[in-house]
Amino acid sequence: MCGIIGYLGNKKALPLLIDGLERLEYRGYDSAGIAVYCRGKIVSIKSVGRVNLLKEKIAARRGVDGVIGIAHTRWATHGKPSEKNAHPHCDCKKDIWVCHNGIIENYKELKDWLIKRGHKFRSETDTEVLPHLMEEFYDGNLENALVEALKRIRGAYAVVAISKNEPEKIVAAKNSSPLIIGVGEKEYIIASDVSAILSRTKKVIYLNDGEAVVMGAGGIKFLDLSKKKVSTNLSGRTQVLDWDLTSAQKSGYPHFMLKEIFEQPESIANSLRGRLITDDGLVKLGGLEAVKDQLSGIKRILISACGTAFYASLAGEYMIEEKAGIPVEVDLASEFRYRRPIIDKNTAFIVVSQSGETADSLAALREAKEKGALTLGIVNTVGSTIARETDAGVYNHAGPEIGVASTKAFTSQLSIFALIVLFLARQRQMSLAEGKNLALELEKIPEKIKQILKTAPQIKKIAAKYKNFKNFFFLGRKYNYPVALEGALKLKEISYVHAEGYGAGELKHGPIALIDKNFPSVFIATENSVYEKTISNIEEIKARGGPIIAITNIGNKKIARLVDDIIYVPKTIEMLEPILNVIPLQLLAYYIGTMKGHDVDKPRNLAKSVTVE
Ligand code: G6P
Repeated sequence: MCGIIGYLGNKKALPLLIDGLERLEYRGYDSAGIAVYCRGKIVSIKSVGRVNLLKEKIAARRGVDGVIGIAHTRWATHGKPSEKNAHPHCDCKKDIWVCHNGIIENYKELKDWLIKRGHKFRSETDTEVLPHLMEEFYDGNLENALVEALKRIRGAYAVVAISKNEPEKIVAAKNSSPLIIGVGEKEYIIASDVSAILSRTKKVIYLNDGEAVVMGAGGIKFLDLSKKKVSTNLSGRTQVLDWDLTSAQKSGYPHFMLKEIFEQPESIANSLRGRLITDDGLVKLGGLEAVKDQLSGIKRILISACGTAFYASLAGEYMIEEKAGIPVEVDLASEFRYRRPIIDKNTAFIVVSQSGETADSLAALREAKEKGALTLGIVNTVGSTIARETDAGVYNHAGPEIGVASTKAFTSQLSIFALIVLFLARQRQMSLAEGKNLALELEKIPEKIKQILKTAPQIKKIAAKYKNFKNFFFLGRKYNYPVALEGALKLKEISYVHAEGYGAGELKHGPIALIDKNFPSVFIATENSVYEKTISNIEEIKARGGPIIAITNIGNKKIARLVDDIIYVPKTIEMLEPILNVIPLQLLAYYIGTMKGHDVDKPRNLAKSVTVE
């Protein structure tokens, strides 16, 4: 949610800032702007819309050749997308320039106070109070001004600032929203995530909550905002990333989404790599070793997440309860924190998050921790806030996911749930034979996905046939119920078509009233323990004239008499079916979205990393 990048070094800042903005654009893309220090003044250029519009505007300007600057791509919260609301924002004198990601909750009262003190505001944003507060407290030292400003604000922030009067430094600070520093050759890049840093360096430092940083020609200095301690010690703080730039590029695919769909055999293999001890039906999860004994005594599990990660969690619930026999409850993170969850020391809390930065998921984690749960994370982004705040966890290792609609993170989350289930179940009731079988079936998943991906041309034809329908149901039972929810979400997100996911058995309790020849249903009808029941639900729709697309197993010929179109997937054990069955739904949504001419990597109104509540 909003992308920030800052550059300080010996290269021209502008092209590097633009390159960084393009990589961060998935975080928000309703407006963008830059501020670069150039020969005694700060030049700022802003534009509504995508970064390429900003780029066009910048192309018309010459001489913006400074070596220090900051830039921002926005997802609007306070104030509509417009040039005047685009970041960076500045103080009255246009000396101090700030980019911010997050929400300043008490901005209204601060703004009123600043206006009374004579400050003139130019935007409707909450962010603009920051440069004015810094102006108010500026005593010739930018970091002091930032610290004083931050003392007065409440809320979440990642903030970077530069000043005309101290052009040799960038100051920044973080609380809840992410900020990462790339340490290059005689240069620093500070950004909301590593994708904007990878082209310059793999050496990164994750800024902590409640920490500010000053980067300058003389090096780097960290300030602990609560303890008021200063440190220049980088040892132990610098990490070397194992993500490479190709993983953050399209590599010949027309969209990141398609690339990420096709990457799934590999991303799942990466999630599983080195973790299965197949012969013993066991799993080795380094991130859970330290809490292994505690986990053997756990009596209840709560899982919390948002969006696609929430649907993966629903499948995780079915898996854990069926295989490990531990009661599980799953909550939307945005609900969990506002109800009164019952937690004791025998409760484990699992938070699932691709980005590791989702504000609601983070808040739910903090709530569970506060109440004494053992907290675990299933997180893709190494070093993210959630990864760092959980007691233990399992990284996805799925590589960066850039497409706003989550695809490979979902199948990786399901795979990690399967590993955790194996871990917990073998501590409890699962036999060696069953453990071994689960491990073997998991190992076969990447190959089976490759088989499904080969059917992409058929799925594209089905997409062409159905692309003009205005409504869809996605229906599945048991493990495929969360798959139906995820399939509907994918279509909504990138095609802007109304789609609802239901447990197939629920349709007759109301929604079936909507069925007619213009309302297609996509059934996930693989041959499992609820297959016969699902077929009955298909009959109910057919009897009412609704068009039907079915996903079923290769070799199932009988279903053809009931449905209009069929997508075939290989067989696996029931618990792992969601990993395979979601792939055709991702492709269906992708093709319908692109056929409608939408920018599927950056669907309207959405952002990849939602760092506001
Ligand atoms: C946003 C994204 C979704 C994602 C959700 C949770 O809404 O658009 O794709 O599933 O956030 O994100 P997380 O990073 O916590 O998995």
